[in-house]
Amino acid sequence: MAEFRLPKNSRIKNTGKVHKAATGATNIKRFKVYRYDPDAGQNPHYDTFEIDLDTCGPMVLDALIKMKSEQDSSLTFRRSCREGICGSCSMNMDGKNGLACTTAIEDCKSEVTITPLPHMEVIKDLVPDFTHFYAQYSSIKPWLQTVTPAPAGKERLQSPADREKLDGLYECILCACCSTSCPSYWWNSDKFLGPAILLQAYRWLADSRDEMTGERLDDLEDPFRLYRCHTIMNCANACPKGLNPAKAIAEIKKMEAERIV
Ligand code: SF4
Ligand code: SF4
Ligand code: FES
Repeated sequence: MAEFRLPKNSRIKNTGKVHKAATGATNIKRFKVYRYDPDAGQNPHYDTFEIDLDTCGPMVLDALIKMKSEQDSSLTFRRSCREGICGSCSMNMDGKNGLACTTAIEDCKSEVTITPLPHMEVIKDLVPDFTHFYAQYSSIKPWLQTVTPAPAGKERLQSPADREKLDGLYECILCACCSTSCPSYWWNSDKFLGPAILLQAYRWLADSRDEMTGERLDDLEDPFRLYRCHTIMNCANACPKGLNPAKAIAEIKKMEAERIV
C-alpha cells in the first residue's frame, strides 16, 4: 500500500489536547485526530481522544460522533447517511483513504490516526475543500446528452445488456478516495481530471442512450485531462465501493485509440 501524503496545508509541529475517557472506562482506544482551523489562526496539530469502546458504536464514524458530542463540540467533519451511500465521510484513517462509516474500529491500529483526504486544501479539521473537484465533475457534463427527440410520450429505453454496461460505474458516490490517493492527481490536479471524474466521464461514454460520444472524447483527448493517468492503480485499491477507475480510464483510452485508426 502506498504511503499517503498529508493535506496540502499541513505543517504539523505540535501535539494538541488530550481528551481523556470518562473515569472508570476500561476498554479505551486512542484516536489521534488532525485539527486545523485557519479562520481561528490555528496551526495544524493533532488532538488525542480516548474513547471508551464499551459505550461506542463499532465504526470510526461512531467514534468521531462520540468525540464531538462528549469531548469537543468544535471537532468538524462531514457525514450524512452512515450507510456508505452519500460519500461525505471520506477521510484518511491509518494512512488509508476510506469512509469513516464503513471502517470498523477493530480493523484499525491500536492508536488510530485520522487526517483529511490527502493533498487537498483543508477548510477545517477533517473537511477538505471539494470546490475544484466538483468543478472538474461539472466539466465532463455528467448528464444524458441527446440530439434525436425522445419517443413521443416515452422514456428512452435501454436493453438489459446495455444497462449492464453501466455496472461498476453508476455506483460511484464521488467520495474522492480514489483521486486523493493518485500520485498523478496530487501533482497535476489543476489539469488532470483524476480517477473519480474520469470514471464518471466513462459512465456517460458507456451509456447506449447518450449521443455525444464524439464531443465527449474530443473534450478528454488532452495530455493532462486524460493521459496523466500512468496506471499506478492506487485508485482501485482505495475505492471503498470496490470500483475500478483505472479500468474505466483504460476503456476511455481504448475508445480514443480506436477512433484514430
Ligand atoms: S491508475 Fe491512473 S488514475 Fe488510478 S491511481 Fe494510477 S495514475 Fe491515478
Ligand atoms: S470511484 Fe470509488 S473511490 Fe472514486 S469517487 Fe467513486 S466511489 Fe469514491
Ligand atoms: S456518512 Fe455517508 S458515506 Fe459515510
